[in-house]
Amino acid sequence: MSPVRPTILVTGGAGYIGSHAVLALQQADYEVVVLDNLVYGHRDLVEKVLQVELVVGDTCDRPLLDQLFASRKIAAVMHFAAYAYVGESVTDPAKYYRNNFIGTLTLLEAMLAASVNKFVFSSTCATYGVPKTVPIPEDHPQDPINPYGATKLMIERVLADFDLAYGLKSVCFRYFNAAGADPEGRLGEDHNPETHLIPLVLLAALGQRDSISILGTDYPTPDGTCIRDYIHVADLASAHVLGLEYLLKGGDTNVFNLGNGNGFSVKQVIETAKQVTGREFKVVEGDRALEIHPL
Ligand SMILES: NC(=O)c1ccc[n+]([C@@H]2O[C@H](COP(=O)([O-])OP(=O)(O)OC[C@H]3O[C@@H](n4cnc5c(N)ncnc54)[C@H](O)[C@@H]3O)[C@@H](O)[C@H]2O)c1
Repeated sequence: MSPVRPTILVTGGAGYIGSHAVLALQQADYEVVVLDNLVYGHRDLVEKVLQVELVVGDTCDRPLLDQLFASRKIAAVMHFAAYAYVGESVTDPAKYYRNNFIGTLTLLEAMLAASVNKFVFSSTCATYGVPKTVPIPEDHPQDPINPYGATKLMIERVLADFDLAYGLKSVCFRYFNAAGADPEGRLGEDHNPETHLIPLVLLAALGQRDSISILGTDYPTPDGTCIRDYIHVADLASAHVLGLEYLLKGGDTNVFNLGNGNGFSVKQVIETAKQVTGREFKVVEGDRALEIHPL
């Protein structure tokens, strides 16, 4: 008989990055339970494509969390569940502080009560705010410029304090822009509303959008459009498995940036999409806006 592999609770596993992490965990032979409130997630991805157990519920629901931890032997938690629309976090910060911060605090307290002390956390480069140096090192000052980034930074601080006080070990991954899909096409990116540049450009190439808007052409960059670092979602997923295994082997609390170290401008992404797809589509140049990159 093969040894029983640990069970990992994946919150937000019905979403874009979480579902790719579930696949990577399955491939590394872990048992997985997904907790997702399905506000933005996709039931079929978990139940039909990944075929793992889905608990439909919210990280703010402490009785549900207690029941979940009591009924399974969970070795660690990978926490993707959050709302991630930067613009909305500015207009409705209460929604973000409640869901992202209170939801995570509730989850961490339930973990401590159940003696589960290993946690892999989806943080973001939005915790840095406006970079003073590029590429941004992990010890760059953190000064978020929107409530979304602030919620993630607050959780990072909680994690540092919970390690010191309660011995909860965590790996925080500060992602840059997640991009791409499972190379075998089993999973992909399907946000509603979609605000990420690459899927928007591909929808324009497919003719499912009339045009693609460039939000700002006055950035101090060679072509005037915003430059971002993109990381493939399958690389993010495998980094999460590595982070988990580091913690399971007794690794100490740590923080890592996850990007590729190279920036690409909005115009470069659009031109590349045109070349790769062989499709022409309308490009509209507009003013800067907050919504295009919800890190
Ligand atoms: N996509 C990116 O480029 C990017 C960059 C940096 C960080 N992140 C972070 O990565 C994580 C995943 O992002 P994504 O793009 O996969 O988003 P997503 O919206 O596709 O997935 C998030 C999932 O969490 C679920 N969810 C939200 N709040 C919940 C709650 N309180 N309880 C239970 N489920 C809840 C949603 O239904 C959704 O399925 C988020 O924490 C996000 O902040 C994403």
